[in-house]
Amino acid sequence: YYPTLGNGGYDVQHYTIDLAVDMEANFIAGTVTIEAEAEKDLSLFNLDFLGFEIAEILVNERNARYLRAGRELFITPADPLPRGEMFRVEVTYSGVPGEGVRGGGSSYSAGWTRYPKGVFVASEPAGAARWFPANDHPSDKATYTFHITVPQPYVVAANGLLQEVIEHEDTTTYVWSTEYPMATYLATVNIGEFVERTEEGPDGLIIRNYFPARIADKAEAVFARTGEMLAFFNEIFGLYPFEAYGVVVADTPLFFALETQTLSLFGAEIVPDALAGVVNGWSQPESVVAHELAHQWFGNSISPANWQDIWLNEGFATYASALWFEYTRGEAVFERIMRGYYRNVAGRDYTPGDPGPTELFGQGVYPQGAWTLHALRLEVGDELFFDILRTYTERFKYGNASTDDFIDLAEEVSGQELGDLFAAWLFEGDVPPMPEWELGG
Ligand code: ARG
Ligand code: ZN
Repeated sequence: YYPTLGNGGYDVQHYTIDLAVDMEANFIAGTVTIEAEAEKDLSLFNLDFLGFEIAEILVNERNARYLRAGRELFITPADPLPRGEMFRVEVTYSGVPGEGVRGGGSSYSAGWTRYPKGVFVASEPAGAARWFPANDHPSDKATYTFHITVPQPYVVAANGLLQEVIEHEDTTTYVWSTEYPMATYLATVNIGEFVERTEEGPDGLIIRNYFPARIADKAEAVFARTGEMLAFFNEIFGLYPFEAYGVVVADTPLFFALETQTLSLFGAEIVPDALAGVVNGWSQPESVVAHELAHQWFGNSISPANWQDIWLNEGFATYASALWFEYTRGEAVFERIMRGYYRNVAGRDYTPGDPGPTELFGQGVYPQGAWTLHALRLEVGDELFFDILRTYTERFKYGNASTDDFIDLAEEVSGQELGDLFAAWLFEGDVPPMPEWELGG
């Protein structure tokens, strides 16, 4: 779908993103260090990067020549990089994020975004290159360290765990890191006048939430059931895969949410009465809260092999949220939700298994993707269905999966031929008739 995303020939292991932020000028400056392994002999390699002024690029401490064309940053190291060896790239750059970059991108894919009270970063699918040089494709996952320096009294919330807070004269450096592989679009930095609210989840998991100080109590109430949701999903999907969980609420309306790894991002509209004149954008906030949490298994721990496999993220998270309602509210509520999803796609011609770049976040992917899983469950029965889910999360943990990988695994675990079922729901268009199922089944 995005022929210019990502690059071959190397495998990134770690990004260190070290940026100083001038909040008034909306200007960022710093160095991103990439540690990567050469997968073949390289005399030239590419990164994805948009905008900013590059001051210098070092490869293995030596100045490298570079050239830019659109998203592509071509780098010629002083010495060729031998296959199988690690190399280090340091890109020093500065500028106003998005300045001079053509095509704004949607708010959930614009990368680094300044709003009156702070900054959020949302980059799905291709916005990471709009704030740091990267191999911007979910197939190249890496671990991350962030050193973000902000003026006082701002607070920074990013992925993983807060390792250190270093106070300077009138700025503060927040050091965050995650030791689990993460796709570029899930990297996030949030800056605001946040308070941190921490609680203990199941099995001692740390849940740290970042809320705008002025609405912290109301926000806390919106996310009060995160611990219970984690316990339920641990049960049906296998143990939560990362070092911590939590959410960050930006002090601005977003009208989307994003499952940024270990720290899902929400807009202030998720909090009732948080914004004068803005109605809560979510008819059922709990459903999106569960949806973003479920993505930590489906989408984050297991990333799509390619963007066309997006239903492995969205169909699964949408169905997971319905499962939470089945568990907490009962069969009748669950049935109402599933029938509602079916109405969203009835009579339509979606192909969730190959939605096309313009329908990446469309109804075919969300409700019809969810129905694909429900049809599978009705076909194989609850026991095998949940075996399939747990085998899938275990086998592809911290990696990538394609639609074919999931279909193969479902056939393997169930011992059944499921090709026709998946073809009908994912690839043939014309949504299949709604299978009948029995309440309480
Ligand atoms: N992955 C995000 C989600 O949880 C999608 C963000 C894009 N949102 C949108 N409305 N297109 O659904
Ligand atoms: Zn989603």
